[in-house]
Formats: sequence, structure tokens, C-alpha cells
Amino acid sequence: MAERRVCVVTFILLLSTFVNSKVFTRCQLTRELLKNHFHQKTFLSNWVCLIEQESDRNTSAHIVKTPRKQYYGLFQIGSEWCKEGKKGGKCDIACESLLDDDIRDDCACAYKIFENEGFKYWTKWETRCKGERLPDIEKCPDWQHPPRASPERMKRTLNRQRRRATLKLQVYKKNLIVYKK
Ligand SMILES: *[C@@H]1O[C@H](CO)[C@@H](O)[C@H](O)[C@H]1NC(C)=O
Repeated sequence: MAERRVCVVTFILLLSTFVNSKVFTRCQLTRELLKNHFHQKTFLSNWVCLIEQESDRNTSAHIVKTPRKQYYGLFQIGSEWCKEGKKGGKCDIACESLLDDDIRDDCACAYKIFENEGFKYWTKWETRCKGERLPDIEKCPDWQHPPRASPERMKRTLNRQRRRATLKLQVYKKNLIVYKK
């Protein structure tokens, strides 16, 4: 009986993964990142480069190195940041939720990783983006006119930002140093 339940859950998870997977174009990705508070334009092409190298802009990219070392979604977030089947890990999310086309949680988690470890967390950023020619996103329409975040989303972010303002500044300075190296 329990086995059957596990099967059904797995099936639903797989199904939802396939149904909701999405491959963005470069400009769609730029738009989505801007909507999700990646507002520092200096960094945006780095994020686009990182995502292109890590997942080919495929929201359901999933790489299994070993059962304990898996990488999920657009940003190829490592399994230490999430938990399989339920909320957990350093981002307090279920790993499976990093494989659907709702990238808000992916973005929040990626930003958290960035705050903690900088771009150097992503090995492909180090080898393929750092110091290299970055994707040209300035021609994307949303670069000139960034989409507005919804009021509800904005409120949430404002509260979060207020709480983190000091920390963010420190981390930003630290990462700026890493970025300049
Ligand atoms: C996106 O990734 C999934 C999972 O690896 C794969 O099944 C799918 O074919 C990929 N989509 C494209 C368009 O490459």
C-alpha cells in the first residue's frame, strides 16, 4: 500500500516536471530575471551567461552525479541547498520544485547562494563566464524597460530587503571584490 502511494507521488512529480518544463530564449530569460529582482544590471549578463552554461536555459535540467550530489533546474542548484521530496536544505525548499517553470523559488535560492558564496559557487561561471565575453542582452526589450514586479511581490521583497539591507551591503562589497579579480 505504502509502495503504491510512493509510486503515485513519484509519477505525479515526474508528470508535473515534464508538463511544466520550459526553455527560455535569451531575452525571455532576461525578462524573468528582471521580474525576480535581479536588478543589478552589471551582474545580469553574468547571470544569463551562468544559466546558459549550466542549464541551457532549461528549467527542468537535472543532473545526477551521485544520489547525494544532484543539480537542479535553471541555475543547477546543488542538492545541499534543497531536500528531496519535502522542504529543506539551506534554501528550505523541495529540490523537485526547482524543476518546474515557476522560477521564483529558483531565483530566491540562487540569490541566497550568491550572497553566501558569490558567483564562484558555479564552476561553469568560473570557467566559461568570468572574464569572458558575456551574452549581449542590451538589445532585449526588457533591458530598456524592465517589467514591474506585482505589488504583492514588491511588498514581500521590500520587507525582506529592509531586514537584509545591512547584510546585503556587506555581501555585495565582498562579491564585488571576487567579481573584479
Ligand atoms: C530540458 O531538460 C529536460 C530534463 O533534462 C529534458 O528532458 C528536455 O528534453 C530538455 N528540453 C530541451 C528543449 O532541451
